Amino acid sequence: MKDLFINDSSTIYLNSGTESKTIKSTLEEIYSNNKNYEINPTYYFVDAYQKLWHTQKEIAHFFNDNPKNYFLRTNVTEVFNQFILGYDLNDNDEILTTNLEYQAIVNVLKYKTMQSKATLREFDFPTRDSISTDEILTLIKKEIGPKTKMLVISHVFTGSGLVAPICQIAEITNSKGIILVVDGAHSCGALKVDFENFKNVDFFAGNFHKWMMGPKGTAFGRVHPKHHEKLKPLMAGWTTFETDSPFDTFGEGHRFATKMMPLGTQNFNQYLGIKSTINFWKAHGENSIRKKLNELTQFAYDIIIENTKLKSLFPKEKSLQGPLITFVLPMRSENEGYNLMKRIFLENKLQIASTKIKGVWHLRVSPHIYNDQEEIVHASKILAKI
Ligand SMILES: Cc1ncc(COP(=O)(O)O)c(C=O)c1O
Repeated sequence: MKDLFINDSSTIYLNSGTESKTIKSTLEEIYSNNKNYEINPTYYFVDAYQKLWHTQKEIAHFFNDNPKNYFLRTNVTEVFNQFILGYDLNDNDEILTTNLEYQAIVNVLKYKTMQSKATLREFDFPTRDSISTDEILTLIKKEIGPKTKMLVISHVFTGSGLVAPICQIAEITNSKGIILVVDGAHSCGALKVDFENFKNVDFFAGNFHKWMMGPKGTAFGRVHPKHHEKLKPLMAGWTTFETDSPFDTFGEGHRFATKMMPLGTQNFNQYLGIKSTINFWKAHGENSIRKKLNELTQFAYDIIIENTKLKSLFPKEKSLQGPLITFVLPMRSENEGYNLMKRIFLENKLQIASTKIKGVWHLRVSPHIYNDQEEIVHASKILAKI
């Protein structure tokens, strides 16, 4: 697997949770498309509309879904802006969220409360490794109040790495008429994402530049058809109203898909590269890629605990385990905060993440299929030394 990615023998990359390496064949596809673009930029750009739609169809097919429910953006932060700021809430409607969400997403929610009379409430979500699915569902039922209109929750929490039981949570919100917005930044690739199973999720944001190992700067929003009318595009352009040629080659007449597409003159080649990423997943098999990822994650967990004696937040319950392993830092490292990650890299050529959970810095490790056991053992010794 290693030679399917770009490596340098001295660097150990164990932070796929921030960004994964992009598959080499996907990089090559983008590079070759960029070269073709330069031969006749006008023709290439106009022609790219239908290629982009074709890519959107491939994406939807991969997630067992309909392409008209999707829109493409550069990253999950942009997708969330579209979801939250583009959806009108009534005065005093409450947005409920946990205190473990990614700060950029929390800021989008706060921004919403500045632009409307909606309110925001965060509830405490445990980080104990002994937490169970039942406990999570009971907690969510308890926290939903009479004013709650929207629940925003991560599928995989960036800090603790816990995988939230989204299908069961969606059943609860659906039965209470609450809009469920899922931050799936860490889902696609690491977990099976199938919208036949997620049919009660209202809004889902996912990306390709983390666990899918796709092009950098590619993400999608998935919107349940019942919200297509109500979601207002944040920006207007050629496709906002009924569209003419050449823009009508995107979307096959689906108004939602066309009004939400990326606007104006831009290079679509990052998005077009997603097709090659999906082909990689099909060729190697989703299940076998995930099996290797899970084995490496478990291996990293075991060996780092053994060599460092650090305590981890990695959940004990199997169904709550994801691709991220977070460790509690000793006090002196904790005080170093974000700089710890930089120092570890500069001194040891080992890339891990510093991550803040409830105001306290932790250390996060996240291997992917381009890693091997030997480098993980080496990384665990570096961490032990530090
Ligand atoms: C849980 C979570 N949500 C959202 C994001 C933001 O993703 P992006 O940088 O693609 O906008 C991240 C990024 O790490 C994340 O971990």
